[in-house]
Amino acid sequence: ERESTVSITVFGASGDLAKKKIFPALFALYYEDCLPKHFTVFGYAQSKMTDAELRTMVSKTLTCRIDKRENCGQKMEQFLERCFYHSGQYDLEESLAELDKKLKEQEAGRLSNRLFYLSIPPNIFIDVVKSASKSASSKNGWTRVIVEKPFGRDTESSAALTRGLKQYLEEDQIFRIDHYLGKELVENLSVLRFSNLVFEPLWSRQYIRNVQLTFSEDFGTEGRGGYFDNYGIIRDIMQNHLLQIFTLFAMETPISLDAEDIRNEKVKVLHSMKPLQLEDVVIGQYKSHTRNGISLGTRMIKLAEIRVQFCHVPGSLYKRCFGTDIDLATNELIIRVQPDEAIYLKINNKLPGLGMKLDRSNLNLLYSSRYSKEIPDAYERLLLDAIEGERRLFIRSDELDAAWELFTPLLKELEEKKIAPELYPYGSRGPVGAHYLAAKYNVRWGDVN
Ligand code: BG6
Repeated sequence: ERESTVSITVFGASGDLAKKKIFPALFALYYEDCLPKHFTVFGYAQSKMTDAELRTMVSKTLTCRIDKRENCGQKMEQFLERCFYHSGQYDLEESLAELDKKLKEQEAGRLSNRLFYLSIPPNIFIDVVKSASKSASSKNGWTRVIVEKPFGRDTESSAALTRGLKQYLEEDQIFRIDHYLGKELVENLSVLRFSNLVFEPLWSRQYIRNVQLTFSEDFGTEGRGGYFDNYGIIRDIMQNHLLQIFTLFAMETPISLDAEDIRNEKVKVLHSMKPLQLEDVVIGQYKSHTRNGISLGTRMIKLAEIRVQFCHVPGSLYKRCFGTDIDLATNELIIRVQPDEAIYLKINNKLPGLGMKLDRSNLNLLYSSRYSKEIPDAYERLLLDAIEGERRLFIRSDELDAAWELFTPLLKELEEKKIAPELYPYGSRGPVGAHYLAAKYNVRWGDVN
């Protein structure tokens, strides 16, 4: 049987994402022996660079995550030897034809499988895909394309982008990445829900009072001011990362773990939701601590978590024993996606002693105490899946359409009416309006204790 090769071309090779995430993830996969025997990595960008310069650039981003990893330096050298650079235009078939030649040299007559990673602005996606499909797609193996958000900025532009891509690619060649789906605890959501009897039957509105998804960062817009002014936090985080978590949280049991079965269930959740209204949201903006006035952003602590607040147990057998607020005495399940990955469950417990006082305690699964293995970066899982053709953690086009349908009317209204954000102090827990909004639904944000 003929041997095969996988060639991974990273468009936008000198960009931030490539340096911070893509090359390090590829190296980590190589280190773990997860990459196929024959593979090559090509960096592609417009600037002139030699292979040696690319290798130097990439080597600066690689780490051996665990100190004193065996043979790490040697493995790095071996990995870098498989890395090459091609300088070319993004919209020229000739540039891609030259790439094709170089890929062929490396493939050395083996079956050729080609993965193109578009880590470039979306306005040039179609150009690259068009020239790549004409001049550099595989003739005897598979060709796959990974695309990074933003996938448009509303329903119409997203649909136009999809139409453009589908002129040159089949849906199953397009891997729309949402890196939150590659995070360990997001992937674990289905395991937690569907393989535990203590959770599975309770996962319904009959037993769950509310679900809170929190995402906050501890840095400001940094160099991203222009991007935020243009896209905003709803497009950057909510329409994709948080909504994806939510669909996994809320979907019904899929028939199987097959990618299509899972994505069918996720789409059903999106179709069953009402588009967001202005009255459903509070838009906040932190007051900058610099003297230059106000900049958009979040600026809180770094946290991503899912908090599930359960209903009260019917009856009031222990009502008197709580001392303070009976409303606090419901169970909560917290899935902390990052940092310090953890799952913990708040339960009521008798305070040890002669009296009958209840105490809220945690059953705590802290990953760093329970598991010694390092948690892989989301990009590692997703790149490996793309290489293996596993689509479960990638966004299908109907999912993307449905996600935009939920947010587009709200985004338009916010922009048309120029709704001013509510200001909140730098480093605080966010706008006060969010607490009023929650109170309307009898909800308290965050830790009720
Ligand atoms: C990206 C957003 O998708 O996710 C960034 O564009 C954000 O604005 C980042 O900072 C957060 O990812 P993580 O993995 O650091 O939580």
